[in-house]
Amino acid sequence: MSERPTVLLLGGTGRTGRRVIDELTRRGARVRAIVRSKERLPAELRARPGLEVIEASLLALGAAELEQHVRGCDAVVSCLGHVMSWRGIFGAPRDLVAQAVARVRDAVRAVGPDRPVRFVLMTSVSVNRPGGLDTRRGAFERGFVAVLRALLPPPRDNQAAADVLFETVGADDPQLEWVVVRPDSLLEGDACAYTLHEGLVDSLFSPGQTTMQNIGRFAAELVTDDACWARWRGRMPVIVNQRVPELASHATA
Ligand SMILES: NC(=O)c1ccc[n+]([C@@H]2O[C@H](COP(=O)([O-])OP(=O)(O)OC[C@H]3O[C@@H](n4cnc5c(N)ncnc54)[C@H](OP(=O)(O)O)[C@@H]3O)[C@@H](O)[C@H]2O)c1
Repeated sequence: MSERPTVLLLGGTGRTGRRVIDELTRRGARVRAIVRSKERLPAELRARPGLEVIEASLLALGAAELEQHVRGCDAVVSCLGHVMSWRGIFGAPRDLVAQAVARVRDAVRAVGPDRPVRFVLMTSVSVNRPGGLDTRRGAFERGFVAVLRALLPPPRDNQAAADVLFETVGADDPQLEWVVVRPDSLLEGDACAYTLHEGLVDSLFSPGQTTMQNIGRFAAELVTDDACWARWRGRMPVIVNQRVPELASHATA
C-alpha cells in the first residue's frame, strides 16, 4: 500500500462513515467521499486536509462516472446503510448496499488497476459467514434471523452485499480483495481496546458492543497496514469492544 492511499468512501455521512473519515484523514490518507448532501458532514470534517467530497446520488451515477471516481483508488470502504425510517427500511432501493457493492466491483474491473483494490464492507453480525464457518447459532436464533430477513429488507440486503463479494470475487482475484467487518450493537464514544474474531461471539439476544470509532479505526488499519490486511483478507471479522475482565487478564498476562 502506498504511503498515502486514496480511498473511495461510501456512506461517509453516516454515524460510522464519519468516524472512518476521521481515522483515515488522521493517518494522512486521501478520502473521496460520495455523499448525497455534503451539508450532512460536520464542518470540522469537511475542512479536513485530504478529504474530497463528491455530491452525487450513488446508485444514479452512470458506469463511466463511477469508474472515474474509482480510478486511482487503492481502497474502497462502504459504511452504507438504510436510513432507519419507514421509507428507508421499506422503500427503494431495498438492495442499496448489494447494488453499490456490485457496481463498485464492476467499476474496479473496468478500470483494471495494477494491483488489487482493497474493499472494506461494514455490515453486521446478522450476516452469516458462508460455508458453515461461523459458530453455529441456536435453533431459535436461526429462526429469528430468518424471520428478520423475510420481513425486513436491510438485513436481507446486508447478507446479499456480503454474498456479492464472497461469491463473485475469488480469493486470488488480481483486481479486488475484500474484508467484511461485522460489528454487533454500535456505541458512541471514543476508540478503545477491541478484539477481532473469525466467527460469531455473542448471541443476537445478548449482543456485544462496538464503538463506531473502533470500526473507523479498524477500517483505517485495514487500508493502511499491510500486515493487518494480510491477516483478514477474504474473511469476515467480528469486532467487539474488549470486555473489562479481558482487559484485566491482558494487563496481568
Ligand atoms: N445501527 C446499528 O446498531 C448497526 C449495528 C451493526 C451494524 N450496522 C450496519 O452498519 C452499517 C452502517 O451503520 P450506521 O448506523 O453507521 O449507518 P447510518 O448512520 O444510518 O448511515 C448510513 C449511510 O448510508 C447512506 N445512505 C442511505 N441511503 C442511501 C441511498 N439511497 N443512497 C446513498 N446513500 C445512502 C446515508 O446517507 P445520508 O446521510 O445521505 O442519509 C449514510 O451515509 C449499516 O449497513 C448497518 O446495517 C448497524
